[in-house]
Amino acid sequence: MRYLTFALGKGRLAEKTLELFEKVGITCEEMKDKNSRKLIFVNEELKMRFFLAKGPDVPTYVEYGAADIGIVGKDTILEEGRKLYEVLDLGYGKCRMCVCGPESALELLQHNQLIRVATKYPNIAKDYFYNKKHRTVEIIKLNGSIELAPIVGLSEVIVDIVETGSTLKENGLKVLEEVCPLSARMVVNQVSMKMENERISELIRVLKTQL
Ligand code: PRP
Repeated sequence: MRYLTFALGKGRLAEKTLELFEKVGITCEEMKDKNSRKLIFVNEELKMRFFLAKGPDVPTYVEYGAADIGIVGKDTILEEGRKLYEVLDLGYGKCRMCVCGPESALELLQHNQLIRVATKYPNIAKDYFYNKKHRTVEIIKLNGSIELAPIVGLSEVIVDIVETGSTLKENGLKVLEEVCPLSARMVVNQVSMKMENERISELIRVLKTQL
């Protein structure tokens, strides 16, 4: 039997994923050691390998088949637009992709003038404004702390993830429009889905019993 390789997005999602996997008997003790600099972990009994990667790289590993399975946020799947199968909504990491800004920006969204949109997700923002709202905007790509942009005048609005809403609240911003709901998803390489169908289908089946 060959190894089934999993790419897990680093951070909060990975912790929840390991908890879920543990419930169905898939364990990887080594992986819990936060001080370890090791990158790949093996469960010999189950013939499974796990590695942690930056979220946006997970769909890349899966599309190329370097990982058979990936666990990653829907935001990353939409943004990266890779060729893969999305097979399961894991239900955790729930949040929303939203257009946010100061209340005064609501009016700008209503009219057709050119506004600037700062975001870590330029493809999602483009799809939303161009294809769903049929309007032209200027997209400004940032890499974090997106809420700063409308405060310091870099953009009128942002497209960003809202979970509890506290970052917005503490910075005097609001949700102006909702783009889509998000959560953690399991994705599968298209060839692996055929070649390892039995193992992967069984994995999906047992995971579903815990959701
Ligand atoms: C995310 C997101 C928001 C915040 C939303 O940022 O970009 O800033 O969390 O969460 P809340 O609604 O619960 O306040 P993250 O912490 O991932 O860091 P970043 O700003 O560097 O992207």
